[in-house]
Amino acid sequence: MREEGVTTQELRDYRPEQKTWQGRLTFIMAASGSAVGLGNLWKFPYVAGENGGGAFVLVYLACIIFFGIPLLMAEIGIGRSTRKNAYGAFSILAEKTGASKYWRSVGGLAICTSFLILSFYIVVAGWCLYYFYITATGYFNVPSHSLDKNLTGRTFETLLASPTILIISSIAFLGMTYAIVTSGVVKGIEKAINWLMPSMMLILAALIGYSATIGNFDAAVEFLFKPDFSKLTFDSAIIALGHSFFTLSLASASMITYGSYMPGKASIPKTAFAVAGIDTLVALTAGLAIFPLVFQHGLEPGAGPGLMFISLPLIFNDIPYGQLFGSAFFFMMFIAALTSGISLMEPTVAWLEQRFNWTRKKSAALTAFSLWLVSLGTVFSLNIWNSPAFFGKNLFDALDYLTANVFMTLGALATAIFCGYCLKTNQLKLLFGEESLAIPAFRATMKYLVPLFILALALTSI
Ligand code: TRP
Repeated sequence: MREEGVTTQELRDYRPEQKTWQGRLTFIMAASGSAVGLGNLWKFPYVAGENGGGAFVLVYLACIIFFGIPLLMAEIGIGRSTRKNAYGAFSILAEKTGASKYWRSVGGLAICTSFLILSFYIVVAGWCLYYFYITATGYFNVPSHSLDKNLTGRTFETLLASPTILIISSIAFLGMTYAIVTSGVVKGIEKAINWLMPSMMLILAALIGYSATIGNFDAAVEFLFKPDFSKLTFDSAIIALGHSFFTLSLASASMITYGSYMPGKASIPKTAFAVAGIDTLVALTAGLAIFPLVFQHGLEPGAGPGLMFISLPLIFNDIPYGQLFGSAFFFMMFIAALTSGISLMEPTVAWLEQRFNWTRKKSAALTAFSLWLVSLGTVFSLNIWNSPAFFGKNLFDALDYLTANVFMTLGALATAIFCGYCLKTNQLKLLFGEESLAIPAFRATMKYLVPLFILALALTSI
């Protein structure tokens, strides 16, 4: 019978030597690179648009503060205290606390989730690459009145209808992700992140400046920050919660795996706040880059997934330097997707490496190849195989729903229960540092707040 769990020393001894990143800043950049992605730039603006703007933003912020940040701390801590991939991390912690060994399946599910998300993420990231290409080469640069919504709409439909373009663009994206991941945690990921994140931030800042100068900035601010509670439905709350998990890359092994590369001394709570802060800031500023132009042109803010690919090109055609602005915009989306793609590939690669003792090259190659095969399902479900074979959804929508709404919710719930009920206080200390005052609050959040809220939402949605 284990009574007290482990001693701090015991758990420290459990850490095999492993490369960690240079410092806290690299970790913050890598983790916010994971967090900031298509979720922030593509999904958040249109979801906020569809769900009434400001009121949705408030609920979303509450979800980030009460559920997102605590879970983010938990996942980083689980990774760092074991220095293992998600499956290995849950195995070790379960063994050390005397909990059932089947807790490791939570880690396994998380790895599957990241793999499946990446299998369709590369397709959407491929759209960004394609749009970057056509915007930069002047495709949308036509005499003003000949570009209308039918035309941009048709361009998007033609893209989705063409397996060849979809396959080429997703392979291009997957290839870059693979090239970075296969070069290693320090030589590949750290090095790439150190370039990619600052570039993305610079482009975003330039875009906001430009959009504020020529667009209807006041209307955008009012839309994003003035809550209209009449538009807020129960469904919006579920969407806000799911999106807060998705945007922080939770419940899908990314943060556990990155946590396992985090330097030992940095403070986890502070780091988690920084990452969530950057992520939220980017989501809101992305809105501030896009909506001024949308309102200026009298377009619909709630235009759905097509907002980015159908409505925006109309604007790019109409504004001064639109070709430059438009291509910078899609290039920024591509960088954001790349830093997230890396974090979605790493969990599987780390697991293969550690579980089967394979080299990184072999693990990365196998992961990339299987991702490509699975991504074909998404590609074809947009055209030649667009059938509602999965509970009335095509494969793409079904995968999106299954991962973002089912797997991630289950994973978050299980992680919270594990931290709340299985981990002993001295293990939590290891996560947060010896004297952290936050431990009682953290435990209460994991024990009651997160599970109750998720269960309530799940029950009502059924
Ligand atoms: N957070 C990223 C986004 O907002 C996507 C992402 C990266 C992700 N890693 C993840 C989503 C892990 C879920 C799980 O686009």
